[in-house]
Amino acid sequence: MPQVNIIDHPLIQHKLAILRDQSTGPKEFRELLDEISLLMAYEVTRDMPLEPVQVRTPVGTATARMIAGKKLAIVPILRAGLGMVGGILNLIPAAKVGHIGVYRDPETLQPVEYYCKLPTDIEEREIILVDPMLATGGSAAAAIRFIKERGARGENIKAMHLIAAPEGIARLQREHPEVPLFVAAVDERLNEHGYIIPGLGDAGDRLFGTR
Ligand code: PRP
Ligand code: URA
Repeated sequence: MPQVNIIDHPLIQHKLAILRDQSTGPKEFRELLDEISLLMAYEVTRDMPLEPVQVRTPVGTATARMIAGKKLAIVPILRAGLGMVGGILNLIPAAKVGHIGVYRDPETLQPVEYYCKLPTDIEEREIILVDPMLATGGSAAAAIRFIKERGARGENIKAMHLIAAPEGIARLQREHPEVPLFVAAVDERLNEHGYIIPGLGDAGDRLFGTR
């Protein structure tokens, strides 16, 4: 079974507290999500392989280390996942970005797929799937299925979410047990409408100022 990595760095937890607050407006919400995503990406990429390189300094030669291995793709789930892309790109500007459009049918809570555009060499990349909310897990499970259908191996995918419900974690572990999860918080439960309690409300609406 994959581990569930809870990233409880004080800066992330502090910013998440402000993000959850119902009085935080879209501008501050976007800025905070951007900052938290950068900080989370720092942990999510901790196991990237390094290779030795020789670097000429002004006074000698250093044996230093640089990132080796597979290149990275960031794949946000539309819409709310978009809010996590900029922060990661600040850290890893060479990453390519794929997009997967999935929304939850408000009645059935089932994922409805409407868009998928991934880098053509997706099967050769390390992939970070991003979406702030992992509620029932239906959207993330469907997105991982899309990525696998285009040739990527589950072992090369990591799922990064801000807040997860226990139900969503269980579903991803059941359907994609090889995909490790990185979250900033695991909340109590889902309500009857599939919202994470206490959560932060509708992430897409809070990001983009819709209702
Ligand atoms: C939200 C969120 C996730 C999904 C999580 O998106 O951003 O994608 O719900 O719920 P699940 O784990 O039960 O599938 P939503 O469907 O509201 O679409 P939006 O981002 O376009 O608002
Ligand atoms: N999607 C959201 O944006 N928020 C939730 O609490 C659940 C699903």
